[in-house]
Amino acid sequence: MYVCICHGVTEKDIKKAAKAGAQSLQDIKQATGCATGCGTCADVALEVLQNANDNVTPDFLKILQPKSKWQEQATA
Ligand code: FES
Repeated sequence: MYVCICHGVTEKDIKKAAKAGAQSLQDIKQATGCATGCGTCADVALEVLQNANDNVTPDFLKILQPKSKWQEQATA
């Protein structure tokens, strides 16, 4: 999933940078270039970074992911 369209930075790129030691939006900017263009991706990039070490899917991505089989059965 692309987080930054200006620089083609993905969620995976941000998680990789976090794993390499990025701890702030500034670190992500330096490591990936994310949020150094129009800047509209900054909040999302920060949310991905904050969740990176917890391996938690950020809320903004949950709505884009297909439902699991049990979720489909629960709503049927
Ligand atoms: S979308 Fe990331 S800087 Fe524009």
